[in-house]
Amino acid sequence: TAAEAQQTSRFAFEQITPQTDGTVHVPNGYRWDVLARWGDPLFSDAPAFDAATGIPTEGSDRVFGENTDGMELFVIGGKELLVVNSEYVNGGINLPAEQNGQPASADDVTRLQNFQGVTVMEVTEGDEGWKVVVDSPYNRRIHHRTPMQIDGPAAGHDLMKTSADPTGTTSLGTFNNCGSGRTPWGTYLTCEENFNSYFGTTSELTLEDATADGFARYGVNTEIDPGRYNYHGFDARFDLSKEPNEPHRAGYIVEIDPSDPTSTPIKRTALGRFKHENAASVVAPDGRVVVYMGDDERGEYMYKWVSRDVYTPGGDTSTLLSEGQLYVAKFNDDMTGTWIALTPEDTGMSAAEIAIFTRIAATQVSATTMDRPEWIAVNPTAIEAYCCLTNNSRRGATNDDGSVRTNAAGEPMVVNAPNPREVNNYGQIVRWRPHHDDHAASTFDWDLYVMAGNPTVYTEGLYAGTANINAGNLFNSPDGMQIDSTGMIWIQTDGNDDNEGDFLGMGNNQMLAGDPVTGEIRRFLTGPNGSEVTGLTWSADRRTMFVGIQHPAAPFPDGEGALPRSSIVTVKRVDNALVG
Ligand code: FEO
Ligand code: CA
Ligand code: CA
Ligand code: CA
Repeated sequence: TAAEAQQTSRFAFEQITPQTDGTVHVPNGYRWDVLARWGDPLFSDAPAFDAATGIPTEGSDRVFGENTDGMELFVIGGKELLVVNSEYVNGGINLPAEQNGQPASADDVTRLQNFQGVTVMEVTEGDEGWKVVVDSPYNRRIHHRTPMQIDGPAAGHDLMKTSADPTGTTSLGTFNNCGSGRTPWGTYLTCEENFNSYFGTTSELTLEDATADGFARYGVNTEIDPGRYNYHGFDARFDLSKEPNEPHRAGYIVEIDPSDPTSTPIKRTALGRFKHENAASVVAPDGRVVVYMGDDERGEYMYKWVSRDVYTPGGDTSTLLSEGQLYVAKFNDDMTGTWIALTPEDTGMSAAEIAIFTRIAATQVSATTMDRPEWIAVNPTAIEAYCCLTNNSRRGATNDDGSVRTNAAGEPMVVNAPNPREVNNYGQIVRWRPHHDDHAASTFDWDLYVMAGNPTVYTEGLYAGTANINAGNLFNSPDGMQIDSTGMIWIQTDGNDDNEGDFLGMGNNQMLAGDPVTGEIRRFLTGPNGSEVTGLTWSADRRTMFVGIQHPAAPFPDGEGALPRSSIVTVKRVDNALVG
């Protein structure tokens, strides 16, 4: 009966209906508030945000960055520090309208560079709710010119050397910081995703074969073209005709110590170079560190890294992410799978080349092409993990000559067991359980936790979705994901919010909660139209959720006539009970 279902349900809220308006909605008994908007001050000397023009270049590295994405909260010295990615920048809002989103000067480029990267900020809850602690000694902006150390197999390789860094061991900036992760020892992992879009060339290129192959595989544009950012028009470091190796220094997992605002972030090349979504860490039974990672591009792969050394609480953790083995996932039709080691023997590449051209190495060993692996989450209450496969409009689709569309390696993206739909606009979440109850094991069993779909448009078949999709909880394009301390799965979407046709009844992008055991999924929060919901973490007392609202349409959240501002919102129960 419904009463029994209510009693056994692990959901602490009633599902909300889909929404199509310009604000945030949460269930009855919950409230939301804005914590931080793009351009809010981190320091009292920061410039004021102008409702029409935003932030000037001078001081643009003293404010909270744009396009909030992955985030994690750390308790350090009794303070709560929120560490947050700013994935990309909207040229259209940050530059004069007549420039069509393109920088027209080095000053423009500097401003755009400053709005991206990572923000570390102390947050505190008082009688008036949560706020950022302006001028906290922990507050810090890491952006596209912040010095970084390069660590691991790629460090010092010829492909990593530039005129500013003939050693190939230091670089400037972390780029397109998408998802996040945290290590067991309390550092932050920021994940470089679409780094390719920041590079271009001002003149015709003559490239070494390995470099040309890498650019093709990673989508670095070698045509003379301003591209999305045109950094190369004003900053020679991004000009491939002058610095062909600079892109090899981006596309990594970067470790940041939030406890020390003077620390140098470290690019951990051992974990591979691809369009990193997030990094989900777990300690294996023998103490080795396992990091699961997705490569978010159509037909790319899922990866796992296992450290050589074991983690000892309180021990030296400075080189734990330096040495280990990288694996790529192969999913079999019989619902088993294998993590295939990327070794010099099996790939014909050196350890440094595997670290720099990881995608190319993975193709040598017949990895499974996936529908854009986005966030991976490890369940803390069961030995299993989940990956959002957000969508893949090109799977099974054909070119004009009738051939099947391929990934960047030229592999035809035909359907396979974990990616069973052609023209997959809805997405699915794959779950795996490692054999021997050990995340370091090389084999696993898998299933699909959910295939999103629309059973009101498609009454049967694969596009209706799995049995846990119903008219009440429709969504598409799962992307962000975290599993809370009770084992509930929080799913955030970045998909089509037209609310028509195949997407009718889904409304704006949203955050849902899923029960891993029963499979039930309920809608918890809806974002303003135009936005994706991305980034989720909890306060130390688990009474507040921090949720990211990226690229909202105007005028969220400031109202009539204001620029759109990506924001972090807090969500609490009105009775201040636990929220995960
Ligand atoms: Fe930045 Fe794949 O999302
Ligand atoms: Ca994402
Ligand atoms: Ca996405
Ligand atoms: Ca995004």
